[in-house]
Amino acid sequence: MTENELKKLLEDMTLTEKTEQLVQLNGDFYGSSEELTGPAAAFHLTKEQTYRVGSILSEHGAAHLKEMQDKIMSAQPHHIPAMFMADVIHGYKTSFPVPIALGASFDPELVRKTAEISAKEAAAAGIHVTFSPMSDLSRDGRWGRCMESFGEDPLLNSKMSAAMVTGFQGDNCGEKGKVASCFKHFAAYGAVQSGRDYNVAELSERTLFEDYLPAYKAAVDAGAEMAMTAFNTLDRVPCTVSKKLLRGILRDKMGFDGVIISDYNAIGEAVIHSAADDSRDAAKKAINAGVDIDMMSECYVNNLEDLINSGEVSEKVLDEAVMRVLRLKNKLGLFEDPYKDASEDDEKRIIGCDEHMAFSRRSAAECAVMLKNNGIFPLRAKKALVIGKLCESGEILGFWSFFADKSKTVTLRDALTQVCADTEFEFIPSDTADEKVLAAAGNADAVLLVLGEDQTFTGEARSCTDVSLDDAQKKLFDDVISVNPNTAVLLFGGRPLAIPEIAEKAAGILEMWLPGTAGCLGIADIISGKVSPCGRLSMSFPYCTGQYPISYSAFSTGRPKDNSVKGYIPFLSNYMDAPNIPLYPFGYGLTYTSFEYSPVTLSTAELTMNGSITAGVTVTNTGDKQGCETVQLYIRDLKGSVVRPLRELKGFKKITLEAGGSADISFEITADMLRFYGIDMEFAAEKGDFVLYIGGDSSTENSAEFKLI
Ligand code: NOJ
Repeated sequence: MTENELKKLLEDMTLTEKTEQLVQLNGDFYGSSEELTGPAAAFHLTKEQTYRVGSILSEHGAAHLKEMQDKIMSAQPHHIPAMFMADVIHGYKTSFPVPIALGASFDPELVRKTAEISAKEAAAAGIHVTFSPMSDLSRDGRWGRCMESFGEDPLLNSKMSAAMVTGFQGDNCGEKGKVASCFKHFAAYGAVQSGRDYNVAELSERTLFEDYLPAYKAAVDAGAEMAMTAFNTLDRVPCTVSKKLLRGILRDKMGFDGVIISDYNAIGEAVIHSAADDSRDAAKKAINAGVDIDMMSECYVNNLEDLINSGEVSEKVLDEAVMRVLRLKNKLGLFEDPYKDASEDDEKRIIGCDEHMAFSRRSAAECAVMLKNNGIFPLRAKKALVIGKLCESGEILGFWSFFADKSKTVTLRDALTQVCADTEFEFIPSDTADEKVLAAAGNADAVLLVLGEDQTFTGEARSCTDVSLDDAQKKLFDDVISVNPNTAVLLFGGRPLAIPEIAEKAAGILEMWLPGTAGCLGIADIISGKVSPCGRLSMSFPYCTGQYPISYSAFSTGRPKDNSVKGYIPFLSNYMDAPNIPLYPFGYGLTYTSFEYSPVTLSTAELTMNGSITAGVTVTNTGDKQGCETVQLYIRDLKGSVVRPLRELKGFKKITLEAGGSADISFEITADMLRFYGIDMEFAAEKGDFVLYIGGDSSTENSAEFKLI
């Protein structure tokens, strides 16, 4: 349709019809009974009304959605098709590694491709919009949803968010095999206090703008069609009713002109937050703040018409919201083909096809992070004992695997048996070891202990106060390591875990995350040596939970402690019982080879406001195997009108080098990269001295100094 045709359609719609376009319901409303029961009954809708809403969430399957679309279009006075939206977060039927793992790939192209495949599968199943990416920065492993984040760094988070949007939407979400992307949760959901889900977020405006907003902005700039509000309050206002946030920042400052949707019942929750009197007041506040679609609360459907009639909400505001919804339907091509790509044949052909399974395997291998290796990997043992109940668990796909085809999940046991043909494995799928098991462990050439958390431990509403292993797993490790020092730990999980004892004593540690449908095959590829590990931590691993929130991008404080000095020093900024630095820093990860960096060279040590300088290093593979290195660029601004972080990631390049090979790697530095929110909240670079670091992780000291003049 043309814009004019859409406007005509809007003019022809009644107030009721317009309101209904802004309502999103889930599948509970569409059961066979004529009566709505359970929570759905609280919406006080007739069955007929439920078929007139603008969008539906979490329903999927080509045949099912075609049938629903038919019903909706015939119930609709103007036969407007519905949009079907769902959480396709790390895959549809084929699961990919969870986003914290994808972040660890440091490979935006890989991430784009996982989204592209997910879009193909989801589109064939009739889905039009996915609630992904989650662009929330996360520096707190207590928060169960850090699993859905690309981690602690604004630049990495931005690059990955943009890559996902591009993967889902391509150039145009209306094309075959594409879905519209909804980034979320606006804003700063990752900063929930104490890592407790749905809690308040308290941030300075500067931290919000500098650290938390860039990834959402990157999603906007990548063309994301939709944005979702966050459950939390920010500056004591629930994000979903914050005009300052939605109209002020998202629309006016960031230039977002797509659809804004609330999170699930978040408009209704404004009442519980004590920020609205009742559901009518919440509806008024949300629409005036800029929320177009009400996901799963009864606020809009029962109150918007009345609010317009009473003049408390202008019809212009309503019309703008409805127009945005109609425009997105139009972009998706639904007025021409309301089924879009829903096709039972394509579902059979595309979903879980060999190519997708192969990519699931490859991406898990690229995301896994080798944290320690005393030579136990690649595994050359003739006989290895694998202990841990997770070794044959299928619960390793991640929180958003409701749609996943579980029948295709490859367990670690299956994968090791299939891939590591030179090793004879015995599997003990238990988190306890009796004397017999310990005797076998003592006699094995190597032991692989499979520890960590399965997919039920991380995700929405899965916060915890202790990110160390549970007591049974700790004991299992102690027991086994005491009988066989050649014991490596394979870790599943969606959050960084505090594992200082394991880091000290284990012969090797491989972080596998929640690797997805065929992910364990990728893990086995690393263990066997077919593939060299190359993942780098997207979130620091702490010594203990009490270090949270933690990030490499910390501040000096007025009483800094030199981190190279061990132990507590009174009256300096440090803990009595733990270091300030993490156990494993952001950007860290080992490979099967070693790399050496030359000192950093600069084309000139003076950067002008409009100029650029080139910073370079020569990276040499000093080992005897081919390997992949993630060359990372960090910059520290030595003085500013406000205090500046000790370092910030400003670029990264992933390179592969043959044994003995070397490459000259360079980064272009411009004043734009040095901008920050100064004392007057102006986003600008300030003249002065900078230190630039290039190395293999965020703790590198390989540096050079330059001046911005
Ligand atoms: C609540 C979650 O916070 C959000 O991320 C998700 O997209 C919606 N539910 C819909 O399932």
